[in-house]
Amino acid sequence: MVTGGAGFLGSHLCDALLAEGWSVVVVDNLLTGRRANLVHLNNEPRFEFVEQDICKSFEVGKVDYVFHFASPASPEDYHAHGIETLQVGSLGTFHALDIARKYAAKFLVSSTSECYGDPLEHPQKETYWGHVNPIGPRSVYDEAKRFTEAVTMAYRRYHKVDTRIVRIFNTYGPRMQLNDGRVVPNFMKQALRGEDLTVYGDGRQTRSFCYVSDEIDGFMRLAKADEHLPVNIGNPNEFTILDCARMVLNVTGSKSRICYKELPKDDPKQRRPDITKARQLLGWQPKIDLESGLRLSLDYFKKAVAEETAVR
Ligand SMILES: NC(=O)c1ccc[n+]([C@@H]2O[C@H](COP(=O)([O-])OP(=O)(O)OC[C@H]3O[C@@H](n4cnc5c(N)ncnc54)[C@H](O)[C@@H]3O)[C@@H](O)[C@H]2O)c1
Repeated sequence: MVTGGAGFLGSHLCDALLAEGWSVVVVDNLLTGRRANLVHLNNEPRFEFVEQDICKSFEVGKVDYVFHFASPASPEDYHAHGIETLQVGSLGTFHALDIARKYAAKFLVSSTSECYGDPLEHPQKETYWGHVNPIGPRSVYDEAKRFTEAVTMAYRRYHKVDTRIVRIFNTYGPRMQLNDGRVVPNFMKQALRGEDLTVYGDGRQTRSFCYVSDEIDGFMRLAKADEHLPVNIGNPNEFTILDCARMVLNVTGSKSRICYKELPKDDPKQRRPDITKARQLLGWQPKIDLESGLRLSLDYFKKAVAEETAVR
């Protein structure tokens, strides 16, 4: 079972699970996901889609593995759906864990680098407890995810559920929403439309971007490993936002210019995973560099921009 399987990461995870021979049931209420992300599986007999809000208790029959990916993830989405984000991180996580407990299924939950907040330790190791503002505008997401981790650990301690926690760092690639406010789709969209690329602050804040196929490979390895403490999966190559903007201009061949806007509140200044644990434990490290990943994503973004323009 994949909760949130109609979303960006969940849909790629479904593809990976099906490719390994599993049957997959997706449970998703389409709050931020799209049936279009799964349309290629319409005739797949080992695939089933259930439209359901996981904040309400639900049943899909016996499953062997629960992958809990349901949650708004982009800043646009969790700001628009703050309460729903807190609910799915709390109530939704209880329900997903209840299913794993009921069927003695394994459980893997998608957590986030946002658990580290605006970090005082750099790069971030899994042992770092984070620096999060519990009452700021981003707290609906950050604290929901920290709570998700706490419930997951509690079900392991109290109910012996076989759990895993992946802390995902910025991931990009095909099937991202064009308007989700994240750096790569924002820049791609603006570059392909010939609009100015918006950089917040002076653009010297850094991010690390992981291409989706690398990220999914990390999830699949962790799913088979015997590690219940959090594992960072992300690309440790750090770029400034300005570097990224220039790379997008290069890959798209766009003549757009870069413009600057005020930095939003609580925007982390730097973020980079320490992936020593994933390397040692899972033999995992990303293979695709940012420029190659942007090239691999280009056709998708071109199509998405063209479709949006057609609708307008
Ligand atoms: N994409 C990233 O870079 C990134 C980084 C860190 C963590 N994550 C985590 O990975 C997971 C997936 O992220 P994504 O980028 O694919 O986001 P997404 O918004 O594309 O997908 C999330 C999915 O969850 C579904 N959903 C939300 N609330 C639900 C509910 N109450 N019941 C059922 N379904 C619900 C949405 O409809 C959507 O299909 C999230 O848990 C997110 O926190 C993603």
